[in-house]
Amino acid sequence: MLALQKSAVVGKAASRRSVAAKATKFDEELVQTANKIASPGRGILAMDESNATCGKRLDSIGLENTEDNRRAYRELLVTTPGLGQYISGAILFEETLFQSTSTGSTMVAELNKQNIVPGIKVDKGLVPLANSNGESWCMGLDGLDKRCEEYYKAGPSTIAARDCAYGLARYAAIAQNAGLVPIVEPEVLLDGEHDIERCFEVQQAIWAETFKYMADNNVMFEGILLKPAMVTPGADCKTRASPETVAAYTLKMLRRRVPPAVPGIMFLSGGQSELEATLNLNAMNQSPNPWHVSFSYARALQNSVLKAWAGKPENKKAGQDALLKRAAANSAAQLGKYSADGESAEAGQRTYEKGYKY
Ligand code: 13P
Repeated sequence: MLALQKSAVVGKAASRRSVAAKATKFDEELVQTANKIASPGRGILAMDESNATCGKRLDSIGLENTEDNRRAYRELLVTTPGLGQYISGAILFEETLFQSTSTGSTMVAELNKQNIVPGIKVDKGLVPLANSNGESWCMGLDGLDKRCEEYYKAGPSTIAARDCAYGLARYAAIAQNAGLVPIVEPEVLLDGEHDIERCFEVQQAIWAETFKYMADNNVMFEGILLKPAMVTPGADCKTRASPETVAAYTLKMLRRRVPPAVPGIMFLSGGQSELEATLNLNAMNQSPNPWHVSFSYARALQNSVLKAWAGKPENKKAGQDALLKRAAANSAAQLGKYSADGESAEAGQRTYEKGYKY
C-alpha cells in the first residue's frame, strides 16, 4: 500500500552523520509495491482531496458537499472500466479508504479488482508556519510543532525547508516500518512571478535537504516514490516555458539530487492544464531516465471528468470516458509516445487557483 504526506516550502542545505544499514520484515514488500506502481505506461490517480476540497469540486458543478455525492464521484472514478491499464495506484482520502460503494462493495476492493494499489493520505493538513514567507508545514507528526518553535529562530525559508524535509523523512521512515510505500512530496507551489531559474534553485535546495534527512533516518530508497512539482516558471511569470524547456530543467534538477535507487518519480500537476501536464511528461520521456518518470495527477486527471459528469447519473459513462481518455494520454506520455492531436480546447484550460489547498 501507498502513503502520502506533503508540505509546502522553499529551502537550503545542512550537516551530515553516518547512515546505518537496516532491514525490516517489510523490505521486500515495499520494493515490490514501489516497482508495481512504477511500471511502464502507468501512473497514479491522486484522488485524495480532503472533504473540503472535494466539496469545492462538487460545488463547481452545482452539487452539495454530502457524503453521498462524494461517494458517487469517487465511485465513478474507481469503477471506470479498464482504468488499471493506465493507472497503477490511487491515493485516497481517509473517508474513501473505508467507504462502501453503492453496490455494497468497497472502494478498496474495486481498486484491487483493477490491479490498482490503494493509497492513503496520512497527513493532517497544512497550517501556516510562524514567521515564514507565507509558507506552510504539514501536521500529522507528533512533536514536530515543538521542533518548529526551535527552527524558527534560524530565519524564514530555512526553517520551512528543514522542517518540511525532516518531517517528510520521519514520515517516510514511519510509513516504511508499517509496510507502506511512502510517497514523498515536498510541495513547491506554482504561485508567484518567479522565473524557471528560480524554481530550479529552490527545488534543488528542497530535494538536497529532503534526501539528506531521508538518509539520516535510514529510509530505504528502493521502497519510496517521489512526488515533485515540475520545474516551471511561476503562475504569474511573463515568460512561459515550452515542454522541452520544462523537461530539461526538471530532469537536470532530478539527476543532480535523486539517486537511481529510487524506483519512481510521480509528478503532481500543480495547476497546469491537462494538456500541459501531459505534454511536459511526454517531453521528459523522450530518452531513458534512471527512474520511472510518471504522473500522480489530481486536477490534470479529474478536470474534464467533473465537467463531463456534472453530477448527473446519466452522465456517469461520459465522466468515466473522460477519465480513461486522460489516463490513456498520460500513459502514452509515460512511454514518450503522446501526441496532442485531437485534444479538446478544454484540455488546454489551466487548473491553477491561487493559494490552492490540497
Ligand atoms: P494536483 O495534480 O492537482 O497538483 O494534485 C496532486 C496531489 O498532490 C494530490 O495528492
